[in-house]
Amino acid sequence: MLGFGAFALLAKELRRDVAAARDRDPAAKGVPPGEILATWPGIHALLAYRVAHALHGAGVRLLPRTISMLTRALTGIEIHPAARIGEGLFIDHGAGVVIGETADIGDDVTLYQGVTLGGTGFATGKRHPTVQDNVTIGSGAKLLGPITIGHGAKIGANSVVITDVPPNSTVVGNPGHPVRVDGRRPEGPDADWIHLPDPIAEAIQGLASRIGTLERTVSELSGEEPEDPVADVRPLRTVKGPNPAGG
Ligand SMILES: CC(C)(COP(=O)(O)OP(=O)(O)OC[C@H]1O[C@@H](n2cnc3c(N)ncnc32)[C@H](O)[C@@H]1OP(=O)(O)O)[C@@H](O)C(=O)NCCC(=O)NCCS
Repeated sequence: MLGFGAFALLAKELRRDVAAARDRDPAAKGVPPGEILATWPGIHALLAYRVAHALHGAGVRLLPRTISMLTRALTGIEIHPAARIGEGLFIDHGAGVVIGETADIGDDVTLYQGVTLGGTGFATGKRHPTVQDNVTIGSGAKLLGPITIGHGAKIGANSVVITDVPPNSTVVGNPGHPVRVDGRRPEGPDADWIHLPDPIAEAIQGLASRIGTLERTVSELSGEEPEDPVADVRPLRTVKGPNPAGG
């Protein structure tokens, strides 16, 4: 069962969680730790999770799930007791946050309201995201499947992310795509695949243009209008639409 060591660890984790709220929530500036402990729902959810997780690890069956269910009713934050969460997690506001069973969260991560770390369907085994250290996930973002969010990444509000996210990048949109990597827009030939040139359409356009010139020359020499001017050549595929890589 749980011994003194487990409670000492719990107290240490809780201190880090309260410090995280003071550091990262502008509304917590100057608020004493006791007041944060008493009134921040993200802190309540984490305290309950840390107890439930310790009980789950000790082999207790019903109680961890009951704690998780009651905490959800109280805070709107649902954290599966088996999820793994590092130190210094800050959940701002809380409501609508879901952290699934096989989610793995590193240290000093920030989640806003409405974030889901979920699975994509009925898969079993590791099916929830791994979030590395110092990641920020904006409100309403859905991160689905056993993907890895690289350390220091930022996920924009309302993004839907279903693929791995590189470290130190900013990902936005649905589907989520990088708009900054190491503070710069992603570049390179692979980044803008929607706007690649269409060599076949360009070759046909070149031929059509030369035929048009020849037809005009012949009609000037003969004094007759060409019967069927060469039709416009359209590209084989659209070149419109946003660049999915954001570059
Ligand atoms: C993504 C975010 C973290 C900003 O990260 P950043 O690295 O500083 O990125 P920038 O602000 O430079 O934005 C980069 C690009 O993404 C766009 N962008 C930013 N956030 C976006 C979002 N949520 N959805 C779509 N596009 C977004 C910007 O317009 C910008 O576009 P550009 O490349 O055309 O200029 C921030 O916009 C965000 O969504 N934060 C979440 C905050 C939140 O949930 N608050 C709730 C408080 S209650």
